[in-house]
Amino acid sequence: MEFPTYVQHEKLKSWVRDTAELCTPDSIVWCDGSQEEYDRLCKLMVSSGTFIRLNQDARPNSFLALSDPSDVARVEDRTYICSLRKDDAGPTNNWVAPKEMKDTLQHLFKGSMRGRTMYVIPFSMGPLGSPISHVGVEISDSPYVVVNMRIMTRMGRAALDVLGKDAEFVPCLHSVGMPLAPGQEDVSWPCNKEQKYIVHFPEERSIWSYGSGYGGNALLGKKCFALRIASSMARDEGWLAEHMLILGVETPDKEKVYVAAAFPSACGKTNFAMLIPPASMTGWKVTTIGDDIAWIKPGKDGKMYAINPEAGYFGVAPGTSDKSNPNALASCAKNTIFTNVALTPDGDVWWEGMTKVEPAQLTDWQGKAWTPGCGRKAAHPNSRFTAPAHQNPTIDPDWENPNGVPISAFVFGGRRSTTVPLILQAFNWNYGVYFAATMGSETTAAAAGAVGDVRRDPMAMLPFCGYHMAEYFNHWLQMGREVSQPPRIFSVNWFLTDDQGQFLWPGFGENMRVLRWIVERTQGRGVAIESPLGWMPRYEDIDWTGLESITPERFRDLESVNRELWKKEIVSHEELFVKLYDRLPKEFLYMRQLILSALWRSPEHWEISYDI
Ligand code: OXD
Ligand code: MN
Repeated sequence: MEFPTYVQHEKLKSWVRDTAELCTPDSIVWCDGSQEEYDRLCKLMVSSGTFIRLNQDARPNSFLALSDPSDVARVEDRTYICSLRKDDAGPTNNWVAPKEMKDTLQHLFKGSMRGRTMYVIPFSMGPLGSPISHVGVEISDSPYVVVNMRIMTRMGRAALDVLGKDAEFVPCLHSVGMPLAPGQEDVSWPCNKEQKYIVHFPEERSIWSYGSGYGGNALLGKKCFALRIASSMARDEGWLAEHMLILGVETPDKEKVYVAAAFPSACGKTNFAMLIPPASMTGWKVTTIGDDIAWIKPGKDGKMYAINPEAGYFGVAPGTSDKSNPNALASCAKNTIFTNVALTPDGDVWWEGMTKVEPAQLTDWQGKAWTPGCGRKAAHPNSRFTAPAHQNPTIDPDWENPNGVPISAFVFGGRRSTTVPLILQAFNWNYGVYFAATMGSETTAAAAGAVGDVRRDPMAMLPFCGYHMAEYFNHWLQMGREVSQPPRIFSVNWFLTDDQGQFLWPGFGENMRVLRWIVERTQGRGVAIESPLGWMPRYEDIDWTGLESITPERFRDLESVNRELWKKEIVSHEELFVKLYDRLPKEFLYMRQLILSALWRSPEHWEISYDI
């Protein structure tokens, strides 16, 4: 086999050679990451029907892909952590013995790229050459993957240069699982409708993905590498790979404070990462480092330093509007790949929530004619934009700093209509880890389970932790012991409702008021009082200028702690703990007792007490 002369890495060469022998593609292309290559592949996909070129004036250099209706989201039930021992994957992951899984995969991948081109895609997760970054190489038979990877990662020759002759890389093998027989016509979105496997081998640090061309199933740098494999690397090496956004807050005195925050899906994570402070909060500015993933390593000064390993946003389109998130809209104004949104008659895109008034006619995400009131959604609820991060107007100047940015606060938040207050600060690291580990979200109508059930999603990592979840808690506790200046930990809940189901908190830009208190606490400035659960602001500790709707009474409701609800809450933590009992940190059992005893000695309905 011929290799480009610049490929010097023997281990990479032999992996590519073995993979080509197994998958028998028609040809092999080494991706250089150039604009010319990107344009050529986009053109190729326009002619094959995978891409629709959007109106050049409305969306310069942008494309729309419509996927197969069976291939629209991550497939958690087809996702495996194949550690040598089942116990190491833990009860929250699917597991098959590595040897057995390798046999299955060898069989599936045999000839899987027949009739297709095999692309070799070197990429760096994180700024090129940063001590916090790591390199991967994805082999894929999907040109859609190549162009998305070019936006989402630092992809091409430069990543290969970082690898040199013998540096470590994570091999990521991907096939859409639809070989073509001679003369067989291709489809616009090839995938395998019967079989999908998203498989991780944490000990050998490799990924095999078969049968899907969509998002996290196929862009293997993201959830597969940057979370599942990286979380396992991070445990071994003493760092953290987290499902967190990273933002910077600039104070009116021009001080900069960085915050990392974890929220499960559908909790407004991208909106928080790109928050625009209310006009009344003059001098406060929020900048974005990342919207989904954070790699965090201890620095010599005892602080934790974070990078965003990604270079783009793979954002959920529906609900993104000029009101909810103008920065996200600006990010996808050009040079963007849209997947499964609707097409307007003049060649632009549309999705639910983009405008108040729905367009009179559209082509929906399945390519069918759509009119308002037709009973179908125009865009798939999980439709996406893949946009370069540097197009975000409020990108942080240090977003590519190879040393990362120092994190002062970790924020954890779920979607809870009751029980969990708007904002509290954990008394200490261990309390914070306990709150993060027991965070949950109420199921919405869109998810399985009864509406209102709480699904525990520790650190928002339930689908993304590459090893035993209880070991992950132990790792978090250990990091707190090892780092001399760990970030402060906060819990937030934007989703409390009143008896009529109306939201008590306006959310969006107004979250800045809470964020300001968080920042001031990390600076040793913000005032707080002690509640049974943690430190809380008083009404007067938050800047309410320009927000009349939050009266002292309303704020008291937002911060109250109901003993009965909390007793139930603590009991329901038990469900998660029982599942993880064999490796659960003993600290958690004591934390639980401490919280219970604090609740017990507090009034039945604890409220911030002052004269209103
Ligand atoms: C995502 C997710 O796509 O968390 O980022 O599901
Ligand atoms: Mn995510």
